[in-house]
Amino acid sequence: MTIRVLPETTVNRIAAGEVVERPASAVKELVENAIDADARRIEVTLATAGRTLIAVADDGIGMSAAELALAVERHATSKLPDDDLLDIAFLGFRGEALPSIASVSRLAIASRPRGAAEAWRLDVEAGRKAAARPAALPAGTRVEVRDLFFATPARLKFLKSDRAEIGHVLDTVRRLAMANPAVAFSVADETGTRLRFEAAQGDLLDARLARLAAVMGREFAENALPIEAEREGLRLTGYAGLPTLNQGYARAQYLFVNGRPVRDPLLAGAVRGAYQDLLARDRHPMVALYLEVPHTSVDVNVHPMKTEVRFRDPGLVRGLIVGALRHALAAAGHRASTTVAAEALGAFRPRDAVAASPVGGQGWRPMPSRGGAASAAGWYAPFPEAAAPSARVDATSFGLAEAPADYDDAPARTAYPLGAARAQLHETYIVAQTADGIVIVDQHAAHERLVHERMKQALEGGGVKRQILLVPEVVEMDEAACERLVGRAAELAELGLVVEAFGAGAVVVREVPAMLGQADVKGLLRDLADEIAELGEGLSLKERLERVCGTMACHGSVRAGRRLTVTEMDALLRQMEQTPHSGQCNHGRPTYVELSLADIERLFGRR
Ligand SMILES: Nc1ncnc2c1ncn2[C@@H]1O[C@H](COP(=O)(O)OP(=O)(O)OP(=O)(O)O)[C@@H](O)[C@H]1O
Ligand SMILES: [Mg+2]
Repeated sequence: MTIRVLPETTVNRIAAGEVVERPASAVKELVENAIDADARRIEVTLATAGRTLIAVADDGIGMSAAELALAVERHATSKLPDDDLLDIAFLGFRGEALPSIASVSRLAIASRPRGAAEAWRLDVEAGRKAAARPAALPAGTRVEVRDLFFATPARLKFLKSDRAEIGHVLDTVRRLAMANPAVAFSVADETGTRLRFEAAQGDLLDARLARLAAVMGREFAENALPIEAEREGLRLTGYAGLPTLNQGYARAQYLFVNGRPVRDPLLAGAVRGAYQDLLARDRHPMVALYLEVPHTSVDVNVHPMKTEVRFRDPGLVRGLIVGALRHALAAAGHRASTTVAAEALGAFRPRDAVAASPVGGQGWRPMPSRGGAASAAGWYAPFPEAAAPSARVDATSFGLAEAPADYDDAPARTAYPLGAARAQLHETYIVAQTADGIVIVDQHAAHERLVHERMKQALEGGGVKRQILLVPEVVEMDEAACERLVGRAAELAELGLVVEAFGAGAVVVREVPAMLGQADVKGLLRDLADEIAELGEGLSLKERLERVCGTMACHGSVRAGRRLTVTEMDALLRQMEQTPHSGQCNHGRPTYVELSLADIERLFGRR
């Protein structure tokens, strides 16, 4: 066995193995190069899902003939002027992408620098470079990759279906587009245009929201809360979806670090932490977050495809994200997503009318009744009168007398965001009239959230008020459940619940949180035992307590089936307006639906 230095083409193919895994990775490198070249418009063309052709054309700064010849050399880059790997200002920095792609395909690059009279073209086949020759091209660069992996057939075998490969390409371009709203992007193949984003106008934040609407959907942009936070030189901006706009998968969660799309498990964890008591465990919110950090606090040179980064202080980043999301969600108050109203109207619509609609039942869908994130601030700002003492009815004091005679219809009542209570239906739903529509509240879900938030507040203020049971309640459960509860007795006491062991297979409850009122103690304990079993040790003490609060709140809430007076209903509405997170119950379901008059008129064909 003799040791030898490998020939350059072999070296490049080894590098290509890490950098170019599939058509989407070649697209990523070429589009990143175009972005680095200051392009305003980037067009991607594919044939057979990128197997036979990937072409990326841009209107960027271009390259001269001499630069072209260098660009395909290994470790040749214009992007590290000071050789300083800690100071990376471009998406590229290694000078590795083009030679890697060239070593496993037939590569042709044509380019014309801005202001230059002529264009040049260079061909490289399986790593062998031909001489540059004149070409015809407007300013910018066009790179064509033909027969990717023809030189490394083993790689070809690992490619998935056309559908899957195109899906990866589109995903890659979408992520880069989200980070570069001022650049126009398009992807086309044999079947036509697969994706097109026009350059978004306005300042960065407006342009970004417009681009996010194009990529993640208008519903996201309309139901997203603006995020802005700063900590120790790290700056976080972006948008986070309202909890009621949730999905069954966590795919729509994006993180950009200094303009670079990255995948980081830290994001998923932080998002889970921030939304944890707002969503059921199998539901996921949508977020797009942009983190700007000093170049010295992040290492981008840790992953061959540069899709992961390493933070110097991951705890700081997680804290920043969780803090910013929680803050925005709390400020959103009782706001629930407009999709809730759209879905409700969809359900109202008579079936044949839907079928008869020219666009398959989608066309009539109402515009969401509330404006987008930009106008959101006015909507959820606390209503000036909401803090009036009359509105501050304690959760346990439901069961007040009937409304006073003069209580009726002061127009001021309908001016509250959630309006004036008019009726209770099926002893479960409160119907209220607002200035320009109606609100239907699920009284159990809403009250559950109010009790939950109040418990959290009390917890932060040094403990929940307890109420001694006149007759301590003995609850029988299996041994393991008893042990779990007794093992957590100290934590539960902080939440106002005092339990002790009571022989084998039973616990005795001596005190309960005062705000729970006449709770069903047996049911509560069984649910708590299940909850504790599921929680495990993954969450912090505070996070666990908040979860348990949710379970308790559920048992202490005004159950569906209780008749409420108008005063009680109004009190509930006013409390919802003042309570953070009150737009959804602990499982991400909405607590109320709002229909605007315009929506209702449309429903009856009046518009
Ligand atoms: N579309 C383009 N327009 C203008 N110049 C380009 C373009 N693509 C590549 N170049 C030039 O070619 C050089 C080499 O590109 P290549 O992608 O191989 O490396 P890089 O972008 O510098 O680093 P990395 O390997 O991290 O992507 C770049 O540094 C740039 O100067
Ligand atoms: Mg590059």
